[in-house]
Amino acid sequence: MKSEKQSLIKTIGVLTSGGDSPGMNACIRSIVRTAKFHNLNVYGIQKGYAGLLEGSMTKMDVASVGNILQRGGTILGTSRCPEFMEKDGRKEAANILKRKNIDGLIVIGGNGSFVGAKLLYEENNIPVVAIPGTIDNDISGTDYTIGFDTAVQTAVEAVDKIRDTASSHARIFLVEVMGRNSASIALNVGIGTGAENIVFPQKGINLDEIVSSIQRGVNRGKTSSIIIVAEGDVSGISYEIQKDIQEKFLLKSHVCILGHIQRGGTPSSTDRFIASQMGAVGVMALIEGKYPMVTTINQGNINLTPFDECLDKKSGFDEKIVNLAKMLSI
Ligand code: F6P
Repeated sequence: MKSEKQSLIKTIGVLTSGGDSPGMNACIRSIVRTAKFHNLNVYGIQKGYAGLLEGSMTKMDVASVGNILQRGGTILGTSRCPEFMEKDGRKEAANILKRKNIDGLIVIGGNGSFVGAKLLYEENNIPVVAIPGTIDNDISGTDYTIGFDTAVQTAVEAVDKIRDTASSHARIFLVEVMGRNSASIALNVGIGTGAENIVFPQKGINLDEIVSSIQRGVNRGKTSSIIIVAEGDVSGISYEIQKDIQEKFLLKSHVCILGHIQRGGTPSSTDRFIASQMGAVGVMALIEGKYPMVTTINQGNINLTPFDECLDKKSGFDEKIVNLAKMLSI
């Protein structure tokens, strides 16, 4: 049965916010095409909430999202917008949406973007749906976020290449991966590349343990070691670890910070598939009056989940997987 809210949505806006992630374009495409299929107007809002506050938006149609499915980044552009953290900023954004006759908004982004979207609804009654798009996979309530799968694949490929040099030159490498305080990327990459150790600065850095994992390898004839370092609060912690193991254990190592290479590139088929499904479900949620909501994926099923279940940052730290990594690197 159609809800009363259903008839309210004639025009929707879509924006991408926070760090870009591979698959955001696939999601935008799905949103625009689903909306057009259901005879809605769609505005693409540029540069995230910052662009919304500038009124920077254009009408999109089926053709405007042609040939973007396979492209990384976001054709809409993105930003981190401090003004939107303020109540006045959100009020202004709501007024702009109302002036443009935009009845509902879809926000693709991470935690910070979700908080802004939820408050936009609560304070100004703007119908919103949020779609998790971040390589970090740190949003609670969903098994995956759009871009995570591609980022892990990119990092695994990079570490495989580093492994070639590590073995050829008998070197120790500290490879730092992104993910802020989330352990998801580091754990997946560590397991996928057979790393000798995975270091989580958020859990403390145990130099003795790092060095004994290197030593274990040496004892059984290995000449090279790969240590995956989760970036934690700030990128660059690997340089401190490098310095400390040099000073304390006289061990020379090389640091490679993978950085933004993990955010770019063509999205994996998994990210395209999840993004396409979430985009369509997001539009339908607005049409059917099911807002404010977050699109999530749990055990392969795409669902709509209330914001409050998705606002906590997921640590991604899974003891079982940490133990698996340890067992496999004996
Ligand atoms: O949230 C995505 C992410 O790539 C994190 O993994 C990383 O810590 C951060 O963004 C980097 O942010 P910026 O691109 O603003 O330097």
